[in-house]
Amino acid sequence: MTQPEPHRIPVSLAPPYEVVIGPGVARELPAWLLAARPGHEYALITDTHVERLHAPAVRALLAAEGIEVRTIVVPAGEAHKTRATKELIEDALAAGRFGRDGALLALGGGVVGDLAGFAAATWHRGIPFVAIPTTLLAMVDASVGGKTGVDLPAGKNLVGAFHQPRAVFADIGFLATLSDREMRSGLAEVAKCGVIRDAKLLARLDHDAARVIAREPSVLADLVADAVAVKAEVVQADERESDRRQILNFGHTIGHALESASGYALAHGEAVSIGMVAEARCAARQGVLAAPEDRVIEGVLARLGLPVRVPALLGLTPAAILEAARADKKARAGRLRCAMPSAIGTMARGETGYGLPLDEAVAAAVLAEMLEA
Ligand SMILES: NC(=O)c1ccc[n+]([C@@H]2O[C@H](COP(=O)([O-])OP(=O)(O)OC[C@H]3O[C@@H](n4cnc5c(N)ncnc54)[C@H](O)[C@@H]3O)[C@@H](O)[C@H]2O)c1
Ligand SMILES: [Zn+2]
Repeated sequence: MTQPEPHRIPVSLAPPYEVVIGPGVARELPAWLLAARPGHEYALITDTHVERLHAPAVRALLAAEGIEVRTIVVPAGEAHKTRATKELIEDALAAGRFGRDGALLALGGGVVGDLAGFAAATWHRGIPFVAIPTTLLAMVDASVGGKTGVDLPAGKNLVGAFHQPRAVFADIGFLATLSDREMRSGLAEVAKCGVIRDAKLLARLDHDAARVIAREPSVLADLVADAVAVKAEVVQADERESDRRQILNFGHTIGHALESASGYALAHGEAVSIGMVAEARCAARQGVLAAPEDRVIEGVLARLGLPVRVPALLGLTPAAILEAARADKKARAGRLRCAMPSAIGTMARGETGYGLPLDEAVAAAVLAEMLEA
């Protein structure tokens, strides 16, 4: 069977790099390393799950071209995206006398990408890294834009740095082993990219929902490529998050609030899915979005198997959700703002930029309607 040509999405940041997307693109990694020579030695950073599932194949591809790597395995899961795990990586690099002319290869989900990227940003004051994302979320979101970092007990991503990867290889084949829940979580971010910037992407996600859920590689590759193109275009326009980048937060003002108020019982993408439904409804009620469009967004998310109602969890109330939203860093001076679409594919820009004031009475009413009995 012939493989379709990989997608190659350029990211025009300093330095520019390419995101290579498709089934089997990990096979391009060794030749790229030999040609681009980002380092004279390499360390492969991965987590315990991916070490078992995919690291041996990647090491074999590298070894076949004579590229030796040392592997550093970190414990899997968000709970380990910490300073302590970054130290574990640094201590392993130091023990192996890893030089300033080395480069890191980050093989894993967003946790590994954020940790390895941050370690690369500070090892010898900065060495190159290459991202090889293995979750859908990491492919479409975490591996573009150069945000790296770790969580603190006081909050997520409190310490970090902007550090761009030299290249990203998003091999769709890795997604075969991902759990349904992780897969859906990533699909929420793909849908978000459609709503904020690419109406055709959202329409295709809907039309191909069954093939997406069946994980047809070529369908997934096309969707990942379009979502990466949206994220790349937004971060290029606004590398330092002053304004444009706020559109990437669609669904996240209420989404983050749900995530934390639920004590993380909801996965990030699940919370963002519910958040997008809520924020789109608010946009419709506030006269920003033409009314039927919020229903369209909800329909697509539901057909992808994502939650579109606030589950009857832990007795969450609209007031508690809005309180959690205010506690989030996106509430400037106590006023809630969120990015709102004016139509599917276009975000509204107001006097306050892309973060529009959220009418809290409207939001409370919308959340009350969305509570599951
Ligand atoms: N840097 C950014 O711009 C950015 C953007 C979005 C999210 N993030 C960060 O990304 C993290 C979430 O990423 P994530 O959802 O990939 O989480 P993750 O890295 O924890 O991966 C989720 C789970 O899937 C496992 N896994 C990874 N690849 C697998 C595969 N191919 N098959 C089976 N299991 C696999 C992991 O071991 C883990 O248990 C968060 O920490 C978030 O802050 C960063
Ligand atoms: Zn997100």
